[in-house]
Amino acid sequence: MINKKTVKDIDVSHKKVLVRCDFNVPLDKNGEITSDKRIVESLKTIKYLIDNNAKVILCSHIGKTGKNISLAPVAKRLSELLNVNVPLLKDIYSDETKNVIDNLKEKEVVLLENTRMTEMEEKNDPEFAKKLASFAEIFVNDAFGTAHRAHASTEGVTHYLPSVSGFLIEKELEALDNGINNPKRPLVAIVGGSKVSSKIGVLNALLDKVDTLMIGGAMTYTFIKAQGGKIGNSLCEDDKLDIATEVVKKAKDKNVKFILPVDNVVADKLESGVKTHITKVDEIEDGYMGLDIGPETIKLFEEEINKAGTVVWNGPVGVFEIDEFANGTRKIAEFMANSNAVTIIGGGDSAAAVEKFGLEDKMSHVSTGGGASLEFMEGKKLPGIEALLDK
Ligand code: 3PG
Repeated sequence: MINKKTVKDIDVSHKKVLVRCDFNVPLDKNGEITSDKRIVESLKTIKYLIDNNAKVILCSHIGKTGKNISLAPVAKRLSELLNVNVPLLKDIYSDETKNVIDNLKEKEVVLLENTRMTEMEEKNDPEFAKKLASFAEIFVNDAFGTAHRAHASTEGVTHYLPSVSGFLIEKELEALDNGINNPKRPLVAIVGGSKVSSKIGVLNALLDKVDTLMIGGAMTYTFIKAQGGKIGNSLCEDDKLDIATEVVKKAKDKNVKFILPVDNVVADKLESGVKTHITKVDEIEDGYMGLDIGPETIKLFEEEINKAGTVVWNGPVGVFEIDEFANGTRKIAEFMANSNAVTIIGGGDSAAAVEKFGLEDKMSHVSTGGGASLEFMEGKKLPGIEALLDK
């Protein structure tokens, strides 16, 4: 359970409230938002503040430092969703911005431009944090997706204002914490993705908690090679073979049912329209690479999902962005959507896959945080949350 104060534990009425959201939404080449999930998920906190007569100043990053992407499409989408005009204040340091905020009325909402327009944000520069804090009397962090970053607008600002969490952070922590630390058993985890090296933390942490751990995605081949299998040209981290062997050993020591794919879809190129065929996972011919789980593996995964009390999924099991290699990931999403288990999707690629297949509403929880949910599952402390006031 969250032991941090939330927006309900502090009097916000008539006050200027700075709210850090994660509006780092995907944009297409025309600058149009392709998924507004993160904006929609922020509305509960913003509406609560409006209903309680606060003066609301929103902020967020979008994209990487140096790219200077504008939050203008977000301001537009927010205005539509809230049915009020949400002006974008383009220069955090300008007199105009100061003037607008000084004269902000109750229930009004403004959005500050991308906090990553300056390098000071990621450096957690105290002067920049102080500048942001100077606009408000209270800080609300609701940016779960950025909670693993100690930046000026997530952590720095908490040194200068009473700081509490919003409803999205509260919801995310409750769902992820219950799913992993207090689950309905059996607890089944599916971990996909391309690299053992980026998932080793979560694999080790999950092995202390789960009943069954199933592996998918390209990291499969590091495990298979470590066991002496033939993986053709599949992706493999040759310097991580020992780590893969240790993971398998830990699973055995902990009595965790550890399931690797047994078959896969292979092709000689990673591109749409390419010819594919199925092979055993440890008998891939030279010149071919494994790019999705095969039908026998899908059956194995289905059986485990159907027996589960809770399923936690992090990382696609194939290259789902390309139709030829999307079937495994789609099937996992469908089995989870149709199961009676508590179903939790870590953010990032797995959340994007569930959204692509239109199954988001059928899951118990789809996280808005990729890196943040991964770090949470690894058992790490998230600095943006640690810095908030304790209950
Ligand atoms: C995310 O999309 O994971 C968050 O918004 C954090 O973005 P970042 O990885 O660029 O810090």
